[in-house]
Parts: sequence; C-alpha cells; structure tokens
Amino acid sequence: MTFSEMINVNAVAYHNEKTKKMMQKSPLETPYFVQLAANNVENAIKAVEIINETEWVDGIDINLGCPVNKAKRSGFGGVLLKDENKNLLKEIVSAIVKTSKKPVSAKMRTGFDKSVVEERAKLLEDLGVLFLTIHGRTVKQMYKGKVNYEEIKKGVKAVNIPVIANGDITDYEKAKFVLEYTGASGVSIGRGSVGKPWIFLEMKQKGSISKEQKKEIILEHFNQMIYWYGEYGVILFRKHAHAYSKGLPGASEFRSKMNSVKDPDIAKELIEEYF
Ligand SMILES: Cc1cc2nc3c(=O)[nH]c(=O)nc-3n(C[C@H](O)[C@H](O)[C@H](O)COP(=O)(O)O)c2cc1C
Repeated sequence: MTFSEMINVNAVAYHNEKTKKMMQKSPLETPYFVQLAANNVENAIKAVEIINETEWVDGIDINLGCPVNKAKRSGFGGVLLKDENKNLLKEIVSAIVKTSKKPVSAKMRTGFDKSVVEERAKLLEDLGVLFLTIHGRTVKQMYKGKVNYEEIKKGVKAVNIPVIANGDITDYEKAKFVLEYTGASGVSIGRGSVGKPWIFLEMKQKGSISKEQKKEIILEHFNQMIYWYGEYGVILFRKHAHAYSKGLPGASEFRSKMNSVKDPDIAKELIEEYF
C-alpha cells in the first residue's frame, strides 16, 4: 500500500486546488491512504468529510511524526506527541476516527524528545486507530542517528493492532531483519525507494531483481514524468537519471547527454540505449 505525502487539514478544509492535486494517485497505488496533518479538530473533521466523498482514497493516515520547524510552530505532526499536547492529540484522533467512513491509521515517531512509544501506541489503539506505523526515532532526532528498533519492538508488544516498522530499511535483508527483530507485521519504506523504486519488487522477489526489470521500471518512471509534467519532465528526470546510473560504467557520459537533452523522445532513446 502507499500513503500520500502529508496534507494539511486546513488546506483540505478550504478546498485548496494545489492540495487536491497532492491527493491524487496513480491507478497502480491500491490500497492508497491520504495522510493528514492536523492541528485543530474543526478542520480535521471538515477534511475527513471531504475525503469521505473522495472515492479513490481508501483510508486516512494521521501524521504524528513530522519534525520540521514549520510543523512544530503550527502544532501538527510530531509535536502532538508532547505530554502537554496529549488532550489535543486525543481530540484530533478521536474526531478523525469518528468522522471517517474509511479505515484510519496513524504514523508516529517514538516520542517527542524521549520515547513514550508504548503509552502513545496504546492510546492510539484505544482511540480506534486500525494500525500503526512507527518510525523508530524521536522527533528531536529528526533523521539523525540510528533507528531504534528496540523501541519499535516495545510498540509492537504494547498493542494488539498491526504495527508497521519504519526507518532505514534499504533492502530485502534489512527488511527481513527488522521484521524478525521487532515482530512487526510489515515494514514501510521511504528514502530507500529514492533512486531505487524497484525496492518493492525486489522484496517481493526475496532480494533478486533482473537488469530487464530495472530498465522497465526506469522507463515507466520516465514515461510517468512526461505524462504528469509534459516536456518539463525531461528536465526533472535528470536527477533520477543520475541516481539510476550511479556506479554503472559510462555513467558520466550518459549523464552529460541527459543534461543536454530536452526532447522527450530523444531522452527516452538515451535511456533505452543506456540501461
Ligand atoms: C523529504 C522527506 C519527506 C517526508 N515526508 C513525510 C510525510 O509527508 N509524511 C510522513 O509520514 N513521513 C514523511 N517522511 C518520513 C518518512 O516517511 C520516514 O518515516 C523516514 O524517512 C524514515 O524512514 P526511511 O528511512 O524509510 O526513509 C519524510 C521524509 C523525508 C526525508
């Protein structure tokens, strides 16, 4: 399953056009949950009512992890895990669960500046969340330091609902280790898919992936970029072409060709030829 990027309930509630575009998905994404970031109950309810009527959205995920300053200042994301925000957290989560006609999950960090993973996981379970994703870092840690799989394991033990383990999972072996170590029901992958979107297929195939499959995925990515952004997609694809060719022979020549091309058909030929 896939999750949208975090979407602010205030923007959804006021029918912001850009926000609607952020909620779109590919037909390949199923089930697909929209992730909401909320700092007040009223707009959280309005946003959920809109999502109730959006038939291509399968569920709602509540963001309880975002560590960026803007989120902290506005009071959504990981800051809701602070002790002083516990009542607001309860109000927001129970309002979303009560209003939603679709399944509701939550994505949490282990705590704000220290781990409160067991207590908050249990609280979210009691509030009716159907499953949890736990990123094994505190909000204060941002993305630094090692993920604490021990804390994820504690979260798994504290609840009866499924827990998805998250953080620093970059290949099949690591996913296998994390599943076994934490006892989680699944894993979720963020940065591990950047430059490596075949990671999901690789996992389904227990760690193996052929050159042909990689090429097919790279071409699919390119075609979708052109479909979505038009000719500008060629420019936007440059950074991906760099990532995909990393460590391969002739990469610098391929990159400089990609950097000079603007025509989608020529770019596609270069990709087909190189990979
Ligand atoms: C640029 C960037 C944007 C992110 N945006 C979101 C987001 O919108 N919602 C969310 O739950 N997590 C978001 N995350 C966090 C990831 O989902 C994930 O929890 C974290 O990166 C650790 O997992 P990973 O090592 O698999 O990436 C973001 C991370 C990065 C680096």
